[in-house]
Amino acid sequence: MLGGKSCVYKGSVSLALVILILLMVLILVSEKNPFHTSIFEMQRQFSVSSSVCNFAKGKWVEDRRRPLYSGFECKRWLSAMWACRMMDRTDFSFEHYRWQPEGCSVSGFERSAFLRRMQNKTIAFIGDSLGRQQFQSLMCMASGGEESPEVQDVGWEYGLVKPKGALRPDGWAYRFPTTNTTILYYWSASLSDLVPMNNSDSPPLIAMHLDLPPAFMRTYLHRFDVLILNTGHHWNRGKIEGNHWVMHVNGTAVNNEYFKDIGNAKDFTIQSIVKWLDSQLPLHPRLTAFFRTISPRHFRNGDWNSGGNCNNTVPLTRGSKITADGSMDTTVERALNGSRIKILDITALSELRDEAHISGSKLKPRKPKKVSSNETQIINDCLHWCLPGIPDTWNELLVAQL
Ligand SMILES: *[C@@H]1O[C@H](CO)[C@@H](O)[C@H](O)[C@H]1NC(C)=O
Ligand SMILES: *[C@@H]1O[C@H](CO)[C@@H](O)[C@H](O)[C@H]1NC(C)=O
Ligand SMILES: *[C@@H]1O[C@H](CO)[C@@H](O)[C@H](O)[C@H]1NC(C)=O
Ligand SMILES: *[C@@H]1O[C@H](CO)[C@@H](O)[C@H](O)[C@H]1NC(C)=O
Ligand SMILES: *[C@@H]1O[C@H](CO)[C@@H](O)[C@H](O)[C@H]1NC(C)=O
Ligand SMILES: *[C@@H]1O[C@H](CO)[C@@H](O)[C@H](O)[C@H]1NC(C)=O
Ligand SMILES: *[C@@H]1O[C@H](CO)[C@@H](O)[C@H](O)[C@H]1NC(C)=O
Repeated sequence: MLGGKSCVYKGSVSLALVILILLMVLILVSEKNPFHTSIFEMQRQFSVSSSVCNFAKGKWVEDRRRPLYSGFECKRWLSAMWACRMMDRTDFSFEHYRWQPEGCSVSGFERSAFLRRMQNKTIAFIGDSLGRQQFQSLMCMASGGEESPEVQDVGWEYGLVKPKGALRPDGWAYRFPTTNTTILYYWSASLSDLVPMNNSDSPPLIAMHLDLPPAFMRTYLHRFDVLILNTGHHWNRGKIEGNHWVMHVNGTAVNNEYFKDIGNAKDFTIQSIVKWLDSQLPLHPRLTAFFRTISPRHFRNGDWNSGGNCNNTVPLTRGSKITADGSMDTTVERALNGSRIKILDITALSELRDEAHISGSKLKPRKPKKVSSNETQIINDCLHWCLPGIPDTWNELLVAQL
């Protein structure tokens, strides 16, 4: 029958078409093909929402377009002790990697697009020195590491001025005038409110209110559009005693067994601040809040004091992929569960990058004539990261989730 013959004919044509399409898809998905990124862009456009994507899962890939700014140039914002390009480190292969989340793409950071998106907005980092690193990184990313005399120091608007005799202010705030974008950092190592105690002890004791967010945060929360919190490395007995901090809960000093375990005190504080911030979010509809998970340390034997080092300079000797669903930072993960605060989970992906710390670098003597070479300061820092470096990736993941 004529009809049947035509059916068979049509069938084989469709089969051929299907095979052809399959082949094309195979070629397009192959990593070697130049259209690969556009496929990923399409995936991004079609993905339902960014929340389906776990940015912490994925892999490090080499990318010669990294770093996003030069470590020689961003002098206005990079601390000398973190600018490894200004030290005597010779291996910079760590600068040429990008984090590729699985199943979702982070569109390349482009500073003018970023600033335009952040028009009239204020981005605030509150946390310890690793938060300060992330702040410096974002300043360098947003300015491209170029001299930007137009960027205004607006610290005074937030009370961030250096008190007489202090080494530095409690934070910094800068504004990009063309887009009216403000980026600031406030130093709060423990994310708890610190209030001098009314006593005659010398040195004076400081009440550390584990259930009260820093006064700075309570005062200025209404001015923030993006807030990124972090804490972690100051939760040890040495630091707490050295700072003369006395733990308080419900307004009174606590000295029970539970809080003697510093890990418990840390967990309690993180849970408290998350609960408080979550309760504030409905009152601050413009605010998007993140809690950044802990940044891993890589002291090989012991810590700072016991000469531990991390002198590996070869990238990705610990592997390049993270496949686990959950965070390595279970304290933050659990505290955020059920809250509206987003997790900025950087722990596992940073754990793979032991070669990107400062350790192994030496500060170049500032005045070579006065300082003999045997006096250059050897840095044994396996906690902080070289900048440009890993905190740039944290910011790319932050921007992707805004
Ligand atoms: C800058 O943005 C703030 C809101 O964050 C707004 O109140 C202020 O009017 C803006 N200033 C200018 C000059 O656009
Ligand atoms: C920024 O703020 C200014 C002044 O309040 C306003 O005129 C402008 O429309 C705002 N722009 C955006 C994108 O919000
Ligand atoms: C501090 O203690 C003194 C004497 O005990 C008292 O007069 C003063 O009011 C106290 N100040 C505060 C702020 O509690
Ligand atoms: C603080 O007060 C709350 C409510 O009264 C109570 O449930 C909690 O046990 C108190 N915590 C401490 C450490 O005193
Ligand atoms: C790195 O540190 C280890 C342990 O301290 C040491 O044995 C090794 O010689 C060091 N390697 C380099 C290249 O400095
Ligand atoms: C989050 O909380 C829910 C309900 O309490 C629980 O079933 C789930 O296991 C928790 N998830 C994590 C990652 O802790
Ligand atoms: C540094 O070198 C000077 C002169 O060469 C020497 O006197 C001094 O003891 C050295 N210092 C150290 C810490 O080795």
